[in-house]
Amino acid sequence: MFSTETLQIQEKIAVYCAANDIPLAELKWAPIPFNGEWGTSTSFFQTAANEAKAAKGTGKRVIVPQRAQEIAEAIKNEIGTPNGISHVEAVRGYLNLYFITEEFAERTISSILQEKSQFGAGKPKHERVMVEYAQPNTHHSFHIGHYRNAILGESLSRLVEFAGFETIRAAYPGDIGLGVITVLWIYEKFYKGQEPEGVHERGQWLLNLYVEATNMLTEKENETEDEKILREKYDAERRDMYRKWDAGDEYIRALWLETREWSLDELKEILLQIGINIDTWFFESVEDEPSKAVVQELLDLDIATDERGEGGAVIVKIDEKLGLKKEKYRTNVLLRNDGTTLYLTKDLSLAKKKFNEFGVDRSIYVVDVRQSLHFMQAFAILGLWGFEQAEKCYHLGYGFVSLPGGAMSARKGRVIIFKDVADEAIRRFTETSKEKNPNLSEEARAEVAETVGLGALAYAMLSVDNSRDTIFDMDVALGFEGRTGPYIQNAHVRAASILKKFQVEGSKLNVENLKSATFNFELTSHEIALIELLSNFPNVVEDAANQYRPMIMATYAYDLASAFHSFYHAVPVLKSETDAIRDARLRLVAAAKQTLANALKLLGINAPEVM
Ligand code: ARG
Repeated sequence: MFSTETLQIQEKIAVYCAANDIPLAELKWAPIPFNGEWGTSTSFFQTAANEAKAAKGTGKRVIVPQRAQEIAEAIKNEIGTPNGISHVEAVRGYLNLYFITEEFAERTISSILQEKSQFGAGKPKHERVMVEYAQPNTHHSFHIGHYRNAILGESLSRLVEFAGFETIRAAYPGDIGLGVITVLWIYEKFYKGQEPEGVHERGQWLLNLYVEATNMLTEKENETEDEKILREKYDAERRDMYRKWDAGDEYIRALWLETREWSLDELKEILLQIGINIDTWFFESVEDEPSKAVVQELLDLDIATDERGEGGAVIVKIDEKLGLKKEKYRTNVLLRNDGTTLYLTKDLSLAKKKFNEFGVDRSIYVVDVRQSLHFMQAFAILGLWGFEQAEKCYHLGYGFVSLPGGAMSARKGRVIIFKDVADEAIRRFTETSKEKNPNLSEEARAEVAETVGLGALAYAMLSVDNSRDTIFDMDVALGFEGRTGPYIQNAHVRAASILKKFQVEGSKLNVENLKSATFNFELTSHEIALIELLSNFPNVVEDAANQYRPMIMATYAYDLASAFHSFYHAVPVLKSETDAIRDARLRLVAAAKQTLANALKLLGINAPEVM
């Protein structure tokens, strides 16, 4: 708010400093919470520190806090009392501008109602960001851990996009490896020609095959000699199949592509359901060939070392190349003795593609936190390789998800399938909705149940710090109290219902037409809290996007919902003391509704009108 005024003042400050040879540092403004008035504040410590630095060796002594205060005072005198500002203070090196309350409130509300779904959006940043997420291995079903990855990546994409970055959403499924071949092997041997009905059923079936095959191929306790022979035979068949895949055997490749499609169909169906639209699909298998060329390139640049002659591999001694004394990145293999590439090698060629073909300036990877060393190494090699973007590569790690029942293990078949959890959430919410809102039509109920069920799941994932493990508890997530999706969605529904009531009972006047509404009455603490949170939304967008932390937005959404619920209980709107106050409050309700919707959208959650 008051950004025009703040900018004008900033302009005056710059002119003043230039005229007085003050080496002005970049000014950062922070909101001052309500204490009789709202305000904004900036400090001159950095500027004073710059002066102190410049004065070094000149014999002039600059005491930073004292000098900061001097500058603040001089500027206070310089700028006087600009329009819309109630008063200006210079205290302890800070310049504080206070706003006329009524005007601050009105401007906050007006800009929200004007900008609507764009309220809070940042200015274009002129940088292209690629967010890579939704990259489960194929020939597997989509489990709750994959869901955490997907929703985290989507929320982050929405945040950076809204903050003004040009954003590309990318996926990178692992579509080859011994696990994938294991599924092909059992399919070919025992299930050939079978194919369950239904996209999801087919996807999940592949997971069942994987579990069964792993069971057959794992050594058992008290294994008999016959069992052992059989197991070894199976394993040999599987490895033979992998060799054929590698050699480009047409039959195996066709089988692989067909079954891979089954997994991708399932993945795409789920992504569609949860509102994710991937722009670019990369595949691990595709990176295999180009990554061999990358190895050669790194050898030519003397970044990699070829030790294959001594029975070793092609490696990168990152620490040594960076001149580090202590071990940090360790030594990495890029090419095995037999000439095969590794996961890291493929990530190098993929990164090169992202930078060179897609013009990516910032590259974010949403991947299991246990891969953090892998990404540190990859980014370090990219730096050695000369990519400037290496500094703007970021690994957003996330922890493990389990249910209160215990941990998952794909190999043992203990997997929490996302579809099961989503179906259950939707089913449970349908029941709750029947109790709470019996008059809803079946059709509307189905839609709301999906919105709230999925919103509950998304919020449960995004409201915990991404790097921490989390236990997903359906009873908690679906609750209407506490930090949950439904609690926030319900604030939106309440706001919608007040506005609807006004339109129905009143003169069908649209709230947007209440332009004259002003806040020239004594605001309650509930209104103050609400207006303050609303005015802060653009800063929260910026923070969450800059720090790559959707949780910041999740926390904000809860705080806003909570402030709205308190307001709703304590302050009359339609029955306000006067029509003028009612109109101002209606506009506040409309602004809160809009901002709740914007915040939820950035979390990948829809905002229902009824529930
Ligand atoms: N498919 C991999 C896995 O499931 C994740 C891929 C992560 N992305 C990357 N660029 N390495 O572990």
